[in-house]
Amino acid sequence: MTAKNGTDRAGWRDGLRESATFDRPTIHEIRRAAREGVYDIRGGGAKRRVPNFDDLLFLGASVSRYPLEGYRERCDTDVVLGTRFAKKPLHIDIPVTIAGMSFGALSAPAKEALGRGATAMGTSTTTGDGGMTEEERSHSNTLVYQLLPSRYGMNPDDLRRADAIEVVVGQGAKPGGGGMLMGQKISERVAAMRDLPVGIDQRSACRHPDWTGPDDLEIKIEELREITDREKPIFVKVGASRPYYDVALAVKSGADVVVLDGMQGGTAASQEVFIEHVGIPTLAAIPPAVQALVELGMHRKVQLIVSGGIRSGADVAKALALGADAVSIGVAALIAIGDNDPTLEAEYEKIGSAAGFYDDWHEGRDPAGIFTQDEELAARLDPELGGRQLANYLRTLVQETQTLARACGKSRVQNLEPEDLVALTVEAAAMARVPLAGTEWIPGQERY
Ligand SMILES: Cc1cc2nc3c(=O)[nH]c(=O)nc-3n(C[C@H](O)[C@H](O)[C@H](O)COP(=O)(O)O)c2cc1C
Repeated sequence: MTAKNGTDRAGWRDGLRESATFDRPTIHEIRRAAREGVYDIRGGGAKRRVPNFDDLLFLGASVSRYPLEGYRERCDTDVVLGTRFAKKPLHIDIPVTIAGMSFGALSAPAKEALGRGATAMGTSTTTGDGGMTEEERSHSNTLVYQLLPSRYGMNPDDLRRADAIEVVVGQGAKPGGGGMLMGQKISERVAAMRDLPVGIDQRSACRHPDWTGPDDLEIKIEELREITDREKPIFVKVGASRPYYDVALAVKSGADVVVLDGMQGGTAASQEVFIEHVGIPTLAAIPPAVQALVELGMHRKVQLIVSGGIRSGADVAKALALGADAVSIGVAALIAIGDNDPTLEAEYEKIGSAAGFYDDWHEGRDPAGIFTQDEELAARLDPELGGRQLANYLRTLVQETQTLARACGKSRVQNLEPEDLVALTVEAAAMARVPLAGTEWIPGQERY
């Protein structure tokens, strides 16, 4: 609940000076902790500013590079995921997929809206902690099924009904942490799918019970291939912490696709301290991940999907330029289907929040009908409208990505490369391993 924390850092006012150390949000949090005696839980990703894609710019073509004409020359956007081992890799039309978000955290109409929007744009969506619902399977042409440490909703028949399997090792919002679903959201249906009692808070495992390291993971992946007749690509999703080693080990274990989720990545519900203080920014995670793939001779053979704070076509294009094959979105897709809608301002106010600030997703009282299992609230979300809005948003992301790729002279968005980028700050230059704008200097590298 951030709206009332006071974000106005007026500094000096009538002789009053706000402390940079004990600013109003900090004072508010200390008072809340003193009152409640328990850590704060919320949804979303890191709110603090960390080096991110805004700190990069494209150079564009000029005399030394030749641009492509926007309306006449093609710029391909499709991508094939799972070319390494799977008999049936996924062919998607755009380099943006919908990230795994659980039924339980999200309502059934929200899952349906995600499926509709993704399908309309020829891309995939992903299940989540809690299993596969009919709403999403029937409305998603391409559905990735998650296998999580919690095993909630795990069903071998659903493994076979999926188009790909994603082994979730971790999430960017909370590498090393498990899931949380508060009792308010554990309805009869959610409880039945997860084998849980109705209405009791649940904290799920932070590590898989049936494997403890890369050698076991290799066995697990082999088992999944056997169950699915070696047809389906196997993704491995990691939260960004030590991407160079984690990506290398995922590849060694047999992953067809690696999903790398940075610290800005959203979560349905986690401790605030976890969201803000564990993991590394998406921008910082991509170059070491790509380096691991290149050194193993696997770049573009094992596809890299990057997520965590992707909002615009500029973000998509920059992630691709750094070496990703595709990106994945969570929070932005939820906003597109109706999350934090300003027309619901009065209702957000009633639950102590405001449109644009609402993040108490764990409480299950979402007036937009997205983060709830209350049937009346959930019925407010129109999945057809939500799906259309998501498709529009995805279309816009792709147009923006193509605009930037053409400006850099690329006839395929994945042909964007680090050479097309410069950084605005020394930090971003060091993390992204591209030169500081106007120089040839990449911090940490003598020459580039
Ligand atoms: C509401 C919500 C529920 C989520 N549930 C899951 C989940 O069940 N499994 C998982 O691997 N990640 C889950 N995530 C994380 C997303 O898959 C993804 O990594 C993250 O949202 C990407 O960052 P972004 O939201 O900034 O785009 C969830 C995220 C949100 C916002």
